[in-house]
Amino acid sequence: MKLGFIGLGKMGMNMVQRLIKGGHSVIAYARTAETVKKAEEKGAIGAASLKNIVDSLEKPRIIWLMVPAGKATEETLMSISGLLEEGDILIDGGNSFYKDSIRRAEVLKKRNISFLDTGTSGGIWGLKKGYCMMIGGDKDVFTKVEPLLKTLAPENGYAHVGPHGAGHFVKMIHNGIEYAMLQGYAEGFEIMNAKKEFNLDLRMIANLWNHGSVVRSWLLELAEAAFEKDPKLEGIRGYVEDSGEGRWTVAEAVELDVPAPAITLSLLERFRSRQEESFSSKTIAALRNEFGGHEVIKKS
Ligand SMILES: NC(=O)c1ccc[n+]([C@@H]2O[C@H](COP(=O)([O-])OP(=O)(O)OC[C@H]3O[C@@H](n4cnc5c(N)ncnc54)[C@H](OP(=O)(O)O)[C@@H]3O)[C@@H](O)[C@H]2O)c1
Repeated sequence: MKLGFIGLGKMGMNMVQRLIKGGHSVIAYARTAETVKKAEEKGAIGAASLKNIVDSLEKPRIIWLMVPAGKATEETLMSISGLLEEGDILIDGGNSFYKDSIRRAEVLKKRNISFLDTGTSGGIWGLKKGYCMMIGGDKDVFTKVEPLLKTLAPENGYAHVGPHGAGHFVKMIHNGIEYAMLQGYAEGFEIMNAKKEFNLDLRMIANLWNHGSVVRSWLLELAEAAFEKDPKLEGIRGYVEDSGEGRWTVAEAVELDVPAPAITLSLLERFRSRQEESFSSKTIAALRNEFGGHEVIKKS
């Protein structure tokens, strides 16, 4: 198939390569000419502008977006859709908020442009191993782009999961689960690391657990790789960002009255990781001192 591809970052550039390797023809665009040149070196046809992509494709056009969620996706989607015609298909493969995707699908539908919200998982390993894809939108549109999904995904690694918004909703929950899984592993490794008298080899244990244990997983393979590089993680700070999906999952759980304590606490733990000093802990220390005369540690 022939398609346009916008966004050639950590995800987009690898996806373009996988599509080309799978026999598809890709018109690639990024805002920086240098990035487009890199995609050309990997076999893509470079585009100098959004209009250039649209002009290079025959109707019905298929255009895949892989840009940061929020403002970048909104602006790019609206700009490119202004250049498209009835029957064309837009795919958002980024981590967009599912309610934005429902709204965007409605706006595009009024102009007879089809939209698929496509949750994409696999990170930088997707180039080799394939991307798991969760697709929301009309089933017939999904069927039209299936050859692309087949190339991008590993075997059985893509599915139509529901109407508009469902793809990004399922991806949001996937990432919420990822927060809790990471937290669980991290806490276990921290406790083992604290048991100094056993001098446990964390890399070896991560490897061991991937042989038949019930907690075996790809994340443990990555843990093994990380401990191999830096056994005590001395070279990195324990500072953890979040990109929104955990917050949206927690907000959704609240909206639906669903208790989701593990995911919620793992999100809050990321906030804690960014604090040099905890104002709440200082408040507790001060109040215990006020009511009970309990000792506080003064700052030097
Ligand atoms: N990284 C992951 O593991 C992962 C996994 C699953 C899903 N995702 C999602 O996939 C999407 C892309 O992620 P990524 O990791 O590839 O990000 P990235 O490495 O930061 O690349 C983003 C790409 O989008 C372009 N871009 C940035 N701001 C833009 C704007 N305002 N308008 C137009 N283009 C813009 C950049 O182009 P320029 O070079 O022109 O700046 C770049 O090519 C995001 O929605 C992300 O949440 C990421």
